[in-house]
Amino acid sequence: MSSKLSTFICQNCGSETSQYFGRCLNCNSWNSIVEEIKSKRSKYQEIKNSKKSIPFNEISSKKISRFTSGFMEFDRVLGGGIVPGSVVLLGGEPGIGKSTIVLQSAGKISLNEKVLYITAEESLEQVKIRWERLNQNSIDLKIFAETNLSLIIEEIKRLNPSFAIIDSIQAIHNHEMESSPGSVSQVRACSSELQNLAKDNNIALLIIGHVTKDGALAGPKTLEHLVDTVINFEGDNISSHRLLRSIKNRFGSTFEIGIFEMLEHGLREIKNPSSVFTNKENISGVTTTITNEGTRPLAVDIQALVNKTFYSNPRRTTTGISINRLHQILAVIEKHVGIKLSEFDCYVATGGGFEINDPSSDLGVAISILSSLKNIPPLANSSFIGELGLSGQVRKSNNLRTKIEEAVRLGIKNIVVPKFEEELNNNFQNLINIKEISNIKEAVDYSLSK
Ligand SMILES: Nc1ncnc2c1ncn2[C@@H]1O[C@H](COP(=O)(O)OP(=O)(O)OP(=O)(O)O)[C@@H](O)[C@H]1O
Ligand SMILES: [Mg+2]
Repeated sequence: MSSKLSTFICQNCGSETSQYFGRCLNCNSWNSIVEEIKSKRSKYQEIKNSKKSIPFNEISSKKISRFTSGFMEFDRVLGGGIVPGSVVLLGGEPGIGKSTIVLQSAGKISLNEKVLYITAEESLEQVKIRWERLNQNSIDLKIFAETNLSLIIEEIKRLNPSFAIIDSIQAIHNHEMESSPGSVSQVRACSSELQNLAKDNNIALLIIGHVTKDGALAGPKTLEHLVDTVINFEGDNISSHRLLRSIKNRFGSTFEIGIFEMLEHGLREIKNPSSVFTNKENISGVTTTITNEGTRPLAVDIQALVNKTFYSNPRRTTTGISINRLHQILAVIEKHVGIKLSEFDCYVATGGGFEINDPSSDLGVAISILSSLKNIPPLANSSFIGELGLSGQVRKSNNLRTKIEEAVRLGIKNIVVPKFEEELNNNFQNLINIKEISNIKEAVDYSLSK
């Protein structure tokens, strides 16, 4: 039984309606609704079900044997390697290097496993040019240039690889649907068919997705729910550093990062990432903090510039931390250090524009701001860790021990941290001078006295 059915799908949020609206009722975006015709199959077709429910303790507890992506940084972001049968979505801005990293990885994996690289965007010759530039070796790497989903599925079934790559999901199409490649319904339908294929045949699948103009990965969130792991490849086209950041991971911790450098011969892993985001200068307005990115501590510089304002409303801008966080820190300084900041513009930027989500960077931001305002360099060779509470107290930080260990590894001599309960001092005797503080005023008196 098959007939044509028309539905109206918002290209912004993916919601479906049975009639056209100029404005989406779900996300309120204008002119985002597009008619899509799909062939209707009866929902109640007879399904032969050979599967039965079983008691929980009868499930065999197999240990997952992951295989390496060829990059230690990539493996860590994946939670320790690629899980057979898993689906990974790799997203990123155009030209950031998605095809480069997967091609390098495919070459390395193919030395031990059967790999299929499906290129839907570029011709075989174009991929060959990149392959030669990357100077890769391979043993069992096959490449297939196709955009038709049925042909792609057929080829994957025929070859039965351990690892398959789709470059990219926006370029392939399901010919049973009339909408164009890249539309919400195409992306969703193709991904769900590929996901079933991966699960049924125990094939690890990596799907590349473009970031849409409003920053969403491969369209609406529905796709992120479908896959096991979502990884974002970040960076800018000016600096050569690239960051892999896991946003969702069913097989590992989230917010794990991997750092690479884009060179002429491809991406190179950076084994000592703290060196990328710190300068070790002792000048006013610059401090170093140690944040927690996934399971890894990372040292990052925080720079502040505080100037008398010429505007009726002082300017506040940030790079790498949220603007709301800056407003909150400025309010805490005004109230609890007693410095009127409403007459000053304030600019804050992290080293290399690195995006910090760990609130324990607050203390570093506050000291940088006051250091710039007073024009006094902070305590030499030091690092600042602690979240600022609204009452001016410095709150506990996650994984303080690993952060102090990272500071020791980097040769930092002084570290200002919130009061801790366990006896940490004994472990670091003679290695680093740890100053425990309980509020912002104490931190300022200790770090910014001439
Ligand atoms: N000869 C080269 N030397 C250094 N870097 C290069 C060279 N050629 C390409 N690159 C880098 O590779 C990037 C393109 O990589 P790639 O094609 O893998 O990106 P992509 O994310 O797959 O792009 P798209 O979204 O268009 O598919 C360029 O932006 C550039 O940074
Ligand atoms: Mg590409």
